[in-house]
Amino acid sequence: MSLKRHILTAVAWPYANGPRHIGHVSGFGVPSDVFARFQRMSGHDVLMVSGTDEHGTPIQVLADQEGVTARELADRYNRIIAEDLVGLGLSYDLFTRTTTANHYAVVQELFTGLHKNGYIFSKVTKGAISPSTGRTLPDRYVEGTCPICGYDGARGDQCDNCGNQLDPIDLIDPRSKINGETPDFVDTEHFMLDLSAFAAILGDWLKTKEGQWRPNVLKFSLNLLDDLQPRAITRDLDWGVPIPLEGWSEQANKRLYVWFDAVVGYLSASIEWAKRSGDPEAWRKWWQDGEAESFYFMGKDNIVFHSEIWPAMLLGYSGKGDKGGEPGALGALNLPTEVVSSEFLTMEGRKFSSSRRVVIYVRDFLERYDADALRYYITAAGPETHDTDFTWAEFVRRTNDELVAAWGNLVNRSISMAAKNLGEIPEAGTLTDEDRAVLDASKAAFAVVGERLNRSQFKSAVQEAMRTVAEANKYISDQAPWQLKKTDPERMKTVLHVALQLVSDAKTLLTPILPASSNKVHAMLGGTGEWSSMPRLEEVTDSIGGEDGVSTYPVITGDYAGDAARWESVPIVPGTPLNAPTPLFRKLDPSIVDEELARLEEKAAE
Ligand code: MF3
Ligand code: ZN
Repeated sequence: MSLKRHILTAVAWPYANGPRHIGHVSGFGVPSDVFARFQRMSGHDVLMVSGTDEHGTPIQVLADQEGVTARELADRYNRIIAEDLVGLGLSYDLFTRTTTANHYAVVQELFTGLHKNGYIFSKVTKGAISPSTGRTLPDRYVEGTCPICGYDGARGDQCDNCGNQLDPIDLIDPRSKINGETPDFVDTEHFMLDLSAFAAILGDWLKTKEGQWRPNVLKFSLNLLDDLQPRAITRDLDWGVPIPLEGWSEQANKRLYVWFDAVVGYLSASIEWAKRSGDPEAWRKWWQDGEAESFYFMGKDNIVFHSEIWPAMLLGYSGKGDKGGEPGALGALNLPTEVVSSEFLTMEGRKFSSSRRVVIYVRDFLERYDADALRYYITAAGPETHDTDFTWAEFVRRTNDELVAAWGNLVNRSISMAAKNLGEIPEAGTLTDEDRAVLDASKAAFAVVGERLNRSQFKSAVQEAMRTVAEANKYISDQAPWQLKKTDPERMKTVLHVALQLVSDAKTLLTPILPASSNKVHAMLGGTGEWSSMPRLEEVTDSIGGEDGVSTYPVITGDYAGDAARWESVPIVPGTPLNAPTPLFRKLDPSIVDEELARLEEKAAE
């Protein structure tokens, strides 16, 4: 298909409550970027958006503990996270934040549209509050004895011992997890999103995804339909987007629930991107055109919000649930094409946990190792369809055997032999059957690898790309150009020409996964111009929601449209000068395994 597609790459918004670890970026980060880069190389119009998710109780609670405001905490981690994601080379068109005035306005517009169409109603419930602060205690911050099984560490939302769903008021001897005091229970009024009005239409929609979505994601999503209950979309909290209704917006202690606001980020960030690009209507091509596609990337704990709640919000806003209605001011909006969810990454057999310090932060990782090495590991050995363990031993093995010994060595020996003996890319003479076979196989890999990347089958895409690398290495060993130097120098030129063409092809096939090192190979082969652009941080000054005046903060953006990288075999140009190459990847000393494990233990003991 050579048609230009409009592809929204919607990447889950990391919480601004701490630095992100490699488990996080294996879910939303690396897969989305591999996908977006591949689609751009295929000539499609990609819009890749995300930002930091800055509201909600956990951020407020952490800020209280540190004696700073939620806003200060969010500012701090917004910057750290944006820097780390740039360090990984994630090519967002816009990575913004949920505290912008633009985001507030779009979230409120969604609420208003849903409310007008009758999909939001209010309800009085009993909520726990802390007597000492007067603040609401969210369900999971209340602890007590389970009324069903008697387990005494049950949480207000569920008992981890017997698995039953609970309400905080059911707990025996309830206490605050924050300071141990006994909560008061008071009446409180909240807005509910009537999910049951979307059961039929969501079911029909999900059934059309059979054979397209990852089977585990689809199965999980279909199961959710069995129990579609109205869900509270407001909280007793002062940190969040105000409820845009008279009598409510004035209340300092009622805010929209963080998940209601965060999922709208995909839309608000698209709108912000369009404004910044100078064409404020440009977002509509990805959201309203019937042919446009949208792919949402995340870890599996996010599935419910993307395959049920966000689609329900989009449908209700567009006037398409059981209660009908009219599209809101922004117009009818597209449902996700695919929810692409990863499973979990564990670490050395344990669950990642920032609080228990079982963690490898992206920043620490990038201080010691290359971004491409991590991108490679996550793509080749990440939790694509199963929970998967990260081990340092496997990281060393993948880096040394696959990146250094296979790919790096192919690049190095081909270019250095040609540079040393000829100083330029040689002309090919008459091709033998072996030459033709290996070149044809390399060309044919574009369709195969491309098909897999297009379907987010990243592991098998890497395997196939690395197979061409192995074949190229075998070709060079079989042809032994170093022996031909004396016996048949013309044949040596042909072999080196073929080898360099294979390097060029493999570089292209690996570009979505290894953009920084592919750029290096592009330059080593005498290529000019920007091959595959890297994102950059840009300081912007804009209004922040709920506050007067403006503030300065970093966004991630980039100019990817002019990239030379195309998803095809590009003939190398004989006569192009070549220099002796520098190593593409650093070989890791096996001793880093023990070093890193010791670092981990040290941290855990702190
Ligand atoms: N902040 C959430 C998390 O880290 C993800 C939010 S995704 C979005 O799990 F839908 F809200 F954008
Ligand atoms: Zn229980």
